[in-house]
Amino acid sequence: MRPVKDLRLDFDERGEGPPVLLIHGFPLDRRIWDAQIPVLAKRFRVIAPDLRGHGRTSAPEGPYSLDLYASDLLRLMDTLDVAKFAAAGHSMGGYILLAMHRLAPERLQKIALVTTRAKADDEAGKKNREATAERVLAEGPGFLADAMAERVLAANPREDVVRQFRAIIRSQNPIGIAEAARAMARRPDATGDLASIRVPTLVLLGREDKLVPPEETRAMAAAIPGATLVEIPGTSHLPMMEQPEATTRALFEFFSGEMK
Ligand code: MLT
Repeated sequence: MRPVKDLRLDFDERGEGPPVLLIHGFPLDRRIWDAQIPVLAKRFRVIAPDLRGHGRTSAPEGPYSLDLYASDLLRLMDTLDVAKFAAAGHSMGGYILLAMHRLAPERLQKIALVTTRAKADDEAGKKNREATAERVLAEGPGFLADAMAERVLAANPREDVVRQFRAIIRSQNPIGIAEAARAMARRPDATGDLASIRVPTLVLLGREDKLVPPEETRAMAAAIPGATLVEIPGTSHLPMMEQPEATTRALFEFFSGEMK
């Protein structure tokens, strides 16, 4: 693992009980979990970090990788004296959670994979990532905030959700976004690892997901032994913001072992 002395990692910590780590996606930060944190904190010790280069965490020079984000989070949990924990990862956060499972499966007690996938990018996808990285470094994140609101949210999204989603993206550091795009382009295909997952797993998908096709997420769930699949209607790629109550309920019931 790479030393992280160059990193100032910022996070929220709320509640008491079994630890639950919440990992946000791209190009976002921990504010996506604002609706979930207070409810989960009634039963759990919730730890919601901003990844390297995102939110209030510092943005050291790259290159970044999914393993590096995963190592940052494992070190954070070491610092907090947390040996074993449950975790949820949204989209890129799910890629990171799968990397964490590859690096340190013994530390994970339960995992929730939220609107994410196991496959790597194809060649066209990799080219798009590099174009995004170069454009964001040249122009800043404004164009992504507009383009992604169109591409990522379900039809007729709530005004406040669109506003918050754009505001989160606009506030991100261009270095962090560019490095995340490049890290995702380089990520390995995790499909072959799915059959070896032995921890209880929840796979949560948005029925109208425009970014990760639901059939890809369903296939991922089918490849994980014993995984529970929950499909949330009326949401695309950001169920925690588009359908916060249903998402919170699914995560709460899964982490507390009350899922029917
Ligand atoms: C995310 O939501 O984290 C990313 O958009 C996922 C991706 O681009 O592959």
